[in-house]
Amino acid sequence: MGQNLNQQPIGIFDSGIGGLTVAQAIVHALPQERLVYFGDTAHLPYGDKSTAAIQAYAVKICDLLLRQHCKVILIACNSASAAAYELVKEYVGSKARVLNVIDPVVQYIGETYPGKTIGLIGTKQTVNSNVYRKKVDALDLDITLKSHATPLLAAMIEEGFFNDSISESVIHAYLSDPDLQGIEALILGCTHYPLIKRQIENYYKGEVDVLDASQIVARHVRHFIEDNQMASAELVGDHSFYVSDFTRSFEESTRIFFKREVHLEHYPLWE
Ligand code: DGL
Repeated sequence: MGQNLNQQPIGIFDSGIGGLTVAQAIVHALPQERLVYFGDTAHLPYGDKSTAAIQAYAVKICDLLLRQHCKVILIACNSASAAAYELVKEYVGSKARVLNVIDPVVQYIGETYPGKTIGLIGTKQTVNSNVYRKKVDALDLDITLKSHATPLLAAMIEEGFFNDSISESVIHAYLSDPDLQGIEALILGCTHYPLIKRQIENYYKGEVDVLDASQIVARHVRHFIEDNQMASAELVGDHSFYVSDFTRSFEESTRIFFKREVHLEHYPLWE
């Protein structure tokens, strides 16, 4: 691949600003890559939406990211990865490479926990789609996946309830569910959950590995870019951050998820 293509950005999209946890991990792992981030704030949360609706949003977002000449499109949302990855890959074809946030985690599980019992928490869309279970079963490594939908957690974090007693109670209520007992590791299957990783680790008192998917995904994207000779030699230009609906509070929350302030540009998906 030529130098010009290598300098094209990595497109990242999510239902909102939670995917900035993944973007932040990618900036850290690949500081020379320019990002174009799209948060579909007009349609969040995806976790409660139908598969058909998420697929329609995802295709529209990919049009925008392709217009921005993204060399790679990362679906940085578990719900959208579960609902729309295959369709998006088909739709984008050879115009860009498409990655999701589920496959890298499943691969990591296969390498690290053969024969073990693993837990998964995420939105209803992610858990009820059974995509993680199907992909883990396809590894054929005798891994048992126990999953539990935890729909309150993303909204709770967006409202600023983390590292406090309210989040502690909600986390306790979910993790003590019979569905999640006897696990050796827990996949944090939602973009928002890195923010409550420490509280979840405290709940398990070090007896369960808590897997921050954003770190695993960022490592995977770095290897993918390097293995395919797509790496940019230096950072050219600025990252761009678009949202389909703008409010001041979204912009304020970006600091929580991206660990620094971000200027959001409003880009309506449907005019
Ligand atoms: N970004 C979504 C995910 O990772 C969580 C928020 C939502 O439901 O839209 O599943």
